[in-house]
Amino acid sequence: MLTFTTPTEVRAWSRAERGGGRSVGLVPTMGALHDGHLALIRAARDRCDVVAVSIFVNQLQFNESSDYDTYPRPIDIDLEVCGQEGVDAVYAPIGAVMYPPEFGTGVAVVELTEPMEGAMRPGHFDGVTTVVAKLFNAVQPDIAVFGEKDYQQLAIVRRMTSDLDFGIEIVGHPIVREPDGVALSSRNSRLGDDERVAARCVPRALDAACAKAAARGASPAQAVSAARRVIAAEPLARPEYITVFDADTLAELDLLTPSARIATAVWFGEVRLIDNRALFDG
Ligand code: PAJ
Repeated sequence: MLTFTTPTEVRAWSRAERGGGRSVGLVPTMGALHDGHLALIRAARDRCDVVAVSIFVNQLQFNESSDYDTYPRPIDIDLEVCGQEGVDAVYAPIGAVMYPPEFGTGVAVVELTEPMEGAMRPGHFDGVTTVVAKLFNAVQPDIAVFGEKDYQQLAIVRRMTSDLDFGIEIVGHPIVREPDGVALSSRNSRLGDDERVAARCVPRALDAACAKAAARGASPAQAVSAARRVIAAEPLARPEYITVFDADTLAELDLLTPSARIATAVWFGEVRLIDNRALFDG
């Protein structure tokens, strides 16, 4: 497995692979790799001849410097895991390479960035689109795989890729969950034991919303109420938002449609978890 730390090196590698007729897949990550990331890597491997994983904790997308400072960075373990997964190249630049002092460009998507995470985390998605644009330009992959865990991020990256003519296929991957239903996240390890048990209320709340939505004549408000009741019954949980939205436009829905999804952000102590799911299967 090759490791690169500059855009020049990784681009030379990617161009050589593509010049040799091999397709290149990219999985952008901030490291602290777990089974959710590994599922994305396998999906990229299934579709491409060679796979690159980027590992970069992107300061531009953090709202709290303490969250950025405490973000886990087990780079040696991550490299080992990538090697075991048959990853061909890891691109792990340092902050000064990504954002030298004179750096002065940002990529911003409008509208899709406004609701949900965008409303709660000002500037977060501008940081995401700026770094993803840089990663796309550095690696120049044929496809890039993103998780539905960050559903709004996936929709925004699709919009940016289309609007800016990157010519990269964006592949969305379903959420990987623990056996108890909690979505895998690098933040789960920061939950206390009681909080980790309490976190089960998040997928259960989304399931309750789906059950409600299946009833004849049900409304988005009723689905949200069903989810809210489950979370309210858990004393350690503090819900931030629960929204039913359209899967493509991300606009909040007044009426249920086949493409309706529900998303939530819930605090457990100092830890903020997000989750979402389609309200109707298929
Ligand atoms: P990170 O949080 O490391 O996530 C990297 C990718 O893994 C994202 O596409 C995310 O949606 C996906 N992912 C995380 N947990 C998942 C799960 N349980 N199931 C499926 N996919 C999961 O998202 C980022 O990094 C950054 O914003 C990034 C895109 C790298 C830009 O900095």
